[in-house]
Amino acid sequence: MMHELFPTPVFEENIGVPEGTLSILDTMEWDRFETKSITKEKNILNFLPSVYNRIQKQIEDWCYNTLLIKTTNELEIVRSWAASHKTGDSCDWHSHTNAVMSGVYYIMCNPDSGRLFFNKGAHYQNCFVPTLEPDTVGFVPATAKQFSILPEPGTLLMFPSQLVHRAERNQSTNWRLCIAYDVFIRGRIGTDHGNEVTL
Ligand SMILES: [Fe+2]
Repeated sequence: MMHELFPTPVFEENIGVPEGTLSILDTMEWDRFETKSITKEKNILNFLPSVYNRIQKQIEDWCYNTLLIKTTNELEIVRSWAASHKTGDSCDWHSHTNAVMSGVYYIMCNPDSGRLFFNKGAHYQNCFVPTLEPDTVGFVPATAKQFSILPEPGTLLMFPSQLVHRAERNQSTNWRLCIAYDVFIRGRIGTDHGNEVTL
């Protein structure tokens, strides 16, 4: 047998797309960047209470019931924005700062509009390091350097904010539309291990 120590958790669940979500996003103002468009609004979930409630419920369920964070540590969505990718658009490797957990919720996508890739990063030293990479005939979770998910409308993904990720080029003729969000922890944290901080 092989024990797989200290895995990186990535949450995936389809939470559906409530009616009216698209029409509310239509009213938003967007900034166009080189390969994507982002809403000017950085608390967009405040305008989508039904989506907000579904996401918040999943955050709490995952963090409290699966990751076993104490419920006295409040989980707050501190920012949320929509991103749209037209044909040929993509999002380069990045991670999210000033956040503990981050997520992406897909509103509009199809099998040709691209996957979300996660990357282990060169500083992550679980088995082999870039100094010497053995030749392999395949990958297992302990040696893999990348992982990808093909989302569907309603797919909610959530992961530690430091995890590097990118969105593949949209090869569909339709737009890919998603909401990204960041979660921070509030309350009295660290009381049990003597290094308390109140956030
Ligand atoms: Fe991101």
